[in-house]
Amino acid sequence: MRGHFITLEGIEGAGKTTQRTAVADWLRAAGLTVLVTREPGGSEIAERIRSLLLDPANTGMHPDTELLLMFAARAEHLRRRILPALAAGTWVVCDRFTDATYAYQGGGRGVPMARIAALEQLVQGERRPDLTLLLDLPAAVGLARARGRSAPDRFESEQIQFFERVRDAYCKRAAAEPGRFRRIDAAREPATVAADSLAAVAAYLTQVRAGPGAQGADR
Ligand code: TMP
Repeated sequence: MRGHFITLEGIEGAGKTTQRTAVADWLRAAGLTVLVTREPGGSEIAERIRSLLLDPANTGMHPDTELLLMFAARAEHLRRRILPALAAGTWVVCDRFTDATYAYQGGGRGVPMARIAALEQLVQGERRPDLTLLLDLPAAVGLARARGRSAPDRFESEQIQFFERVRDAYCKRAAAEPGRFRRIDAAREPATVAADSLAAVAAYLTQVRAGPGAQGADR
């Protein structure tokens, strides 16, 4: 069986890190080989680009620069890690991918979606995640969780209105692509959220194992 590409998305404080561990553990228990990774980052050079992107000292970064750095990091990550893993039959669980660019740079910063789509095509061709879990919660709830954790990075320093726009863009994408997205209410207890995340992944695996006609099985 080829590897499948699962992404987790959501605003700050949605609990992606907890859920990605739960999903990866579940897939391994189901007998699959799993790579857990994240964006921006996930490879040596991409992690260096991540440092530039998150450094709160870079307050003056132009939105176009931010957009290009996101895709520069993605080009590295995709070619060095994600595509080789998928080709080897490994399942990839990735904390954020291009939906985050549509949500943060598009929704949050106001970069035209068409510009993002052009770069998506350039960097990824037809490659898209097979399944995306959107961990959705109100911006105020997410930020209250995230801000209690550590010194805010360049994104976490944004105002709540920024994250409301990000959330809205995520929800619009989920509504537009119901075949790929599963929207999960992430304002609840982590164990309850995990139950829903795992149910979504289990249903997807059942679909994949049902045969080559199943959604996304041969891309
Ligand atoms: P993290 O906090 O989930 O590790 O992600 C780092 C930040 O990068 C987060 O605030 C969201 C932001 N981001 C974008 O703005 N665009 C993107 O394409 C990605 C992958 C992340």
